[in-house]
Amino acid sequence: MAKIKNVGVIGAGQMGIGIAHVCALAGFNVKLNDVSLERVNSGLATINGNMARQVSKNAISEDERKGALGRITAAGMLEDLSDSDLVIESAIENEELKRKLLSDVCRVLGPDAVVATNSSSISITRLASATDRPERFIGIHFMNPVPVMELVEVIRGIATDDATFDTAKGFVSALQKKIAVAEDFPAFIVNRILLPMINEAIYTLYEGVGNVEAIDTAMKLGAHHPMGPLELADFIGLDTCLSIMQVLHEGLADSKYRPCPLLVKYVEAGWLGKKAQRGFYDYRGEKPVPTR
Ligand SMILES: NC(=O)c1ccc[n+]([C@@H]2O[C@H](COP(=O)([O-])OP(=O)(O)OC[C@H]3O[C@@H](n4cnc5c(N)ncnc54)[C@H](O)[C@@H]3O)[C@@H](O)[C@H]2O)c1
Repeated sequence: MAKIKNVGVIGAGQMGIGIAHVCALAGFNVKLNDVSLERVNSGLATINGNMARQVSKNAISEDERKGALGRITAAGMLEDLSDSDLVIESAIENEELKRKLLSDVCRVLGPDAVVATNSSSISITRLASATDRPERFIGIHFMNPVPVMELVEVIRGIATDDATFDTAKGFVSALQKKIAVAEDFPAFIVNRILLPMINEAIYTLYEGVGNVEAIDTAMKLGAHHPMGPLELADFIGLDTCLSIMQVLHEGLADSKYRPCPLLVKYVEAGWLGKKAQRGFYDYRGEKPVPTR
């Protein structure tokens, strides 16, 4: 089992900043990378705000916030991650891009470094084949929002060795998260179950069975879900939802996973959900307003 001190995070989007946040609070040194320093700095500002909210709720102390922020460094280039013991790739859910990033980052890492992906759906075995170290490659799949959600899925590729599996489990436990071990099948456990439900909610909207408000209310009050499925889709990001459905559809070759055409249309419009200020709800005003 490898000793992890320095963690590199690729992608400073909603998941990358959440991962950096919990790693820094747990005492790891974190380097956060994205396409530009501007993007990383905007992520750092969000982490600062999120930690300040935790202080105001007495979830962490001001000293813990300061200490954690001091452990996160902006990394403008992949080369800056060269001293990482563990790299977690959390860029957009696009296999081609992930393969390139993983192959590039391996070139700058020490031979013993472990490489992980936070992919929601893509085959760990296939992504591993883009690296020079399939035996030290693993899926560490965090849930959104990372500081709040208790679960992390750990997924071995076909070549992942026992030491890497143990390292990943030890690392996740150090973050005070619970582990569910999933086999390497499309979308693993949580999203194999969750995304078809969300996709079905979008079909329900597309077919006019109910409007946005009716569908979300129905599932919140009728099934006791804490968020409606369309609200949840906006929260996850509609581009991510579509990518996961495409991975399920292609990987399992079953028409029951066909992405709803309305989901495709929203993504084509750039209505990607909360992060784009518009999805099944419009977030630009004081209160979210349904778009259908
Ligand atoms: N959104 C969720 O609920 C959720 C949950 C678990 C896992 N995931 C997975 O986490 C990953 C990131 O999702 P997200 O929701 O944070 O997306 P996001 O769109 O919020 O962020 C993605 C980030 O990747 C960056 N990026 C793109 N190309 C890059 C490159 N070449 N180098 C470095 N950074 C690059 C983008 O600039 C952006 O900041 C995806 O693989 C997704 O499937 C998402």
